[in-house]
Amino acid sequence: MVFPVSRKNKNIVLERAKGDPLVRMQEKYNVYYHSFERQVGSRVWIDGKEMVMLASNDYLGLGAHPKVIEAGKKALDEWGSSTTGARLANGTRSFHLRLEEKLAGFLGVEACHVHSAGYLSCMSAIAGFAQRGDLIVVDKNVHSSLLSGISLSNARVERFLHNNPADLREVLSYEKSKVPKILLIEGVYSMEGHIAPLPEFVKIAQTESCFLIMDDAHGFGVLGDNGRGTANHFGMTEHVDVLCGSFSKALSSTGGFVAGSRDMVQYIRTHSKQTIFSAAISPVQAACAEAALDVMQDEPEHLERLWANTHRYNQMLKDRGLDTWNSETPAIPIVLGTKEKAYYFWKALYDKGVFSVISIAPGVPPGKDLVRTSISALHTKADFLKIEEALDYALKHY
Ligand SMILES: Cc1ncc(COP(=O)(O)O)c(C=O)c1O
Repeated sequence: MVFPVSRKNKNIVLERAKGDPLVRMQEKYNVYYHSFERQVGSRVWIDGKEMVMLASNDYLGLGAHPKVIEAGKKALDEWGSSTTGARLANGTRSFHLRLEEKLAGFLGVEACHVHSAGYLSCMSAIAGFAQRGDLIVVDKNVHSSLLSGISLSNARVERFLHNNPADLREVLSYEKSKVPKILLIEGVYSMEGHIAPLPEFVKIAQTESCFLIMDDAHGFGVLGDNGRGTANHFGMTEHVDVLCGSFSKALSSTGGFVAGSRDMVQYIRTHSKQTIFSAAISPVQAACAEAALDVMQDEPEHLERLWANTHRYNQMLKDRGLDTWNSETPAIPIVLGTKEKAYYFWKALYDKGVFSVISIAPGVPPGKDLVRTSISALHTKADFLKIEEALDYALKHY
């Protein structure tokens, strides 16, 4: 039966989506959703134009490592494309357990659970543990995946100033109730490149009896012994209750993990909806992550090159008086301060063959509109020459 169309009964959601001003703006400026038709090492091609990739999270450059490629191909041959099921049901395979055991051993914790996306892992690390009535105290600048986890948990939330233990202490000082408290931070902040002052946060977590969750998506593979991450960097692994992270950065795959004591991981496996009702990470993704983890330990030269490149690039930006928000890691923003300046700087880099990513408020705090760049072990001398030229051009044209 066909119902008559009434002008009064407008489909409001349809109208909202059709007329969305943000979509219009993104289409007008064309800064997101670029598609590369080819990729070789640190170079990508758009519309036939070769560019230096200066925005990848492939920190160690393992995405094209022969051992990683070979492992992915072998997994596809052996296991097919997907496990087509949740881990709890029909989706668990021996390679999942092997990867989890290796990862837990590498991180120095008892156990680990892997998901098909870092976003899922980080969301489940919060939503799995936090409950209505709990208090989550969270750094203002954490990633969207953690904010999604907070929303799903129905816990109360208080924010403290970014990387500021004194402000955290103050926020907690107003809390007189004896509710369970969860402290939520990142090890390395992806936009700012800042490292969390973990020893101070651990001290506060201990005196205030907070359960400490740390998302180390950008510290894993970058900091610590052989890239064991931020907790290892500070020698404080046993003081973090739950670690979560992603395979789509230094491990050059797709997926993520939640790690901690055996009890914590079993709890997540039993209580987290994202863990229970989502299909297992695919054979290829798991195999590539596992191979990259092996390479990280067998070939420390990638991490060494990453840091040498990072120091070189950081100096290049400082020599030009650019504001890097005091980044301490390979994730290095160029803070321009307004969305117009960020756009023209980004565009100038783009025109000169350097691909970066623009991030504007509310994605970053007001006044911190920026161009996010990140360094990889793959970047070569020739790349840096091209980057230098592009920066000089952008400085004249933004
Ligand atoms: C800090 C942080 N946590 C979690 C994620 C989610 O990871 P994935 O992209 O693997 O889903 C990201 C990805 O950008 C991130 O930067």
